[in-house]
Amino acid sequence: MHSFAYKNGLLHCENVDLQALAKQTGTPVYIYSKHTILNHFIRLREALAPLKAEVSYAVKACSNIAILNLLAKHGAGFDIVSGGELYRVVQAGGDPSKCTYAGVGKTEKEIRYALEQGIYCFNVESEAEMRAIDAIAKSMGLKAPVAVRVNPNVEAGTHKYITTGKAENKFGVDFEKIEALYEKASREMPNLVLKGLQMHIGSQLTQAKPFYEAVVKVAPLVKSLKEKYAIEFFSIGGGIGIVYQDTLESGVQEWWSGDEAPLTLNAYAEAVIPTLQELGLHIIVEPGRLIVGNAGALVTTCLYEKKGSAKTFKIIDAGMNDLIRPALYQGYHEIVPVQQHLNDEITADVVGPICESGDFQAQNRVMADVQAGELLAILSAGAYGFSMSSNYNSRPMAAEILVDNDEWYLIRKRQSWSDLIAGESVPE
Ligand code: LLP
Repeated sequence: MHSFAYKNGLLHCENVDLQALAKQTGTPVYIYSKHTILNHFIRLREALAPLKAEVSYAVKACSNIAILNLLAKHGAGFDIVSGGELYRVVQAGGDPSKCTYAGVGKTEKEIRYALEQGIYCFNVESEAEMRAIDAIAKSMGLKAPVAVRVNPNVEAGTHKYITTGKAENKFGVDFEKIEALYEKASREMPNLVLKGLQMHIGSQLTQAKPFYEAVVKVAPLVKSLKEKYAIEFFSIGGGIGIVYQDTLESGVQEWWSGDEAPLTLNAYAEAVIPTLQELGLHIIVEPGRLIVGNAGALVTTCLYEKKGSAKTFKIIDAGMNDLIRPALYQGYHEIVPVQQHLNDEITADVVGPICESGDFQAQNRVMADVQAGELLAILSAGAYGFSMSSNYNSRPMAAEILVDNDEWYLIRKRQSWSDLIAGESVPE
């Protein structure tokens, strides 16, 4: 479900009128619903209740400390991929001992920091990394908890840039090489504790089948590692897909409704629970998009309309630097007017101010015929929206707002022009 709906012809997030809000904050602005974030987190935990699974939020999806703090207060663990993400979790009051640290390129500085903070486990992506962690742990007089990320080589059926569990992807260690690597680690790397196994097959999966196939394929390996090395956990990664189309049609909706293939939480749970339950291990899931995707919208102002010979362009004040998903993954985001329109549709491209033809949020979209000065909301932008934004074209990053019922909080100030050059200097 999500918490964006029209009331009296005006789009609201929970009980906050977005027109009034945007007047105060300016645009572009990211707006998140506290209710939706918590609802998704709790529902996933409930769906996996028979496993007592740990829901470890993938920080990269949306890393604002207010959101991390909210999830930490409700008992979330965190899936991190950099020292910076760990720093955020710590600053937000999250518990480092509930953090798992993935990523193929961890630096010495990051590994040291994670060891100092006492994270739950490193999810190691190569033998070379494993040796580096062993050496750093030795130099600190510690034992480092590690799991290997297995690449199960299954087809995730998602966009090629967000498929991670195929042999040609850079992630993890080949399924066939895992046993030998644990064997080597147990013989040659005395400063490691072999604590678990991890996998993540891809993102925005809208079918339960790949999850089922991956879990069934990897379970025997997990059993064997449990017997030989007494590993205590198995993390099955994130990747649960959400609905991006037609989420607004009849007000607040179930997140799996709409035209896209419905992956319900129940279908997901049914696909993975039986196999996982048998393992008798601590199970971790690492959802990012599911928790925050439908919980966020990017509100933007229509600056101009331009009628070209081939197309009509609605030019908005949000660029690909604010939301890069359409440009990078052909991602679809529903775009609706904040002030509801009735019966005045147009086919247009929604484009930003950036000097790139790839700077669009929608192409050939049938949409409300908004005029200059009107607001649009780009929906389902909570995941990989702000967190992938940049200062390209020297554009300050947008503000972020957290809505709680009829109140809202500025959780990140809009950057100023002077923020853009902070840290830069001219040689004398
Ligand atoms: N665990 C690991 C190891 C991951 O690499 C990821 C995402 C997740 C968990 C969380 O996946 P989720 O539940 O959010 O699907 N920027 C892309 C998505 C990149 C996902 C990267 N890894 C997008 O906007 O679609």
